[in-house]
Amino acid sequence: MTGRGGAIDLFTARFGGEPDIVIRAPGRVNLIGEHTDYNDGFVLPMAIEQATWVALRPRDDRIVRLTSEGHGDVSFSLDDLVRGTDGWAEYIKGIAWAMGSAQLHGWEGAFTSDIPIGAGLSSSAALEIAGALAFTSVSGQAWDPTASALMAQRAENEWVGVSCGIMDQLIIATAEADNAMLIDCRTLGLTPAPLPGDVAIVILDTGTRRELVDSEYDDRRRACERAAEAAGVPALRDLSIDDIAGLARATDEIALRRARHVISENERTIDAASALEIGDVRHFGELMNDSHKSLRDDFEVSSDALDLMVDIATDLEGCLGARMTGAGFGGCAVALVRDSAAAQFVEEITRRYSTASNNDPHVYVTRAAAGAHARQIGDRTT
Ligand code: GLA
Repeated sequence: MTGRGGAIDLFTARFGGEPDIVIRAPGRVNLIGEHTDYNDGFVLPMAIEQATWVALRPRDDRIVRLTSEGHGDVSFSLDDLVRGTDGWAEYIKGIAWAMGSAQLHGWEGAFTSDIPIGAGLSSSAALEIAGALAFTSVSGQAWDPTASALMAQRAENEWVGVSCGIMDQLIIATAEADNAMLIDCRTLGLTPAPLPGDVAIVILDTGTRRELVDSEYDDRRRACERAAEAAGVPALRDLSIDDIAGLARATDEIALRRARHVISENERTIDAASALEIGDVRHFGELMNDSHKSLRDDFEVSSDALDLMVDIATDLEGCLGARMTGAGFGGCAVALVRDSAAAQFVEEITRRYSTASNNDPHVYVTRAAAGAHARQIGDRTT
């Protein structure tokens, strides 16, 4: 069982009695602005309905005891944090380390989640932010979403050892219901962008999972840094389309193509946020299609399964645009579809993709959800 009730039931079964606090940390889908966050650029993600839930109770000592549906039990002391092989619990240890474990109190908590793992919907960032909220709540600290997102990113980079930008943790901590969020990844400025009511956001899970993503991701980052260095700027964010001809003379062919993606994607993302502001969903959809082509051809992070899913999507009635989402190399694409056509779209794309590939797709409409929050158990507003 997942959701709030599932986490509470698991808590009671494992630890006995009632939890005091329930936390919800959603997954995210990025609508546009891919591989731009670590170039100090712009992204436009939103939180989704799928989420990680934690039911928890503070402890009087400095022990953290965790249980997770399907992933077993882990226990550690805040006085003796050791990087280990505790799987999912390493994200919780990592956040304790990044927050400064000396300031924190112990707790026991039960985790459930319906965010698919490895699909590009940020199940790990949700776990980190859930952990940050748990430690904040039991330790009597004030919740600072942006500071917590930065600590969660540090946990992922330095404790878990996966390099990532700030997008996932920041949107999970700060999202607003019914809105996407334009994030300036240099200033960490946040501008909510309302999603029109007559369109649906459809998640297109190809049923494939990311492979080699860490090494390919690091490789893309290095190419972007090479291009920025050749241009003499701190980050690709500082360049515009007009600079590409000059860059062609200063750097290698691969770095040039990676840079062309990032520079054009930043412009598309700002343009997309303006399109949302005036309700121009048709233009928004075109920008999503262009983003996919750029990720496929210049940044080379798509896959056959993602390309097939996007091709089928853009061919269907009512689809305004579609693109791969997240780091790439498998996982999910996302489509913007007229609300009136959404049910038919889901049925049709599932049928066509299943026939054209050997994979088992999972296609569903999601809603822009609120960011992570913690509630005392008596409070039923979640
Ligand atoms: C992963 C990373 C993010 C971002 C995306 C690509 O999701 O965690 O920081 O770089 O890839 O846009």
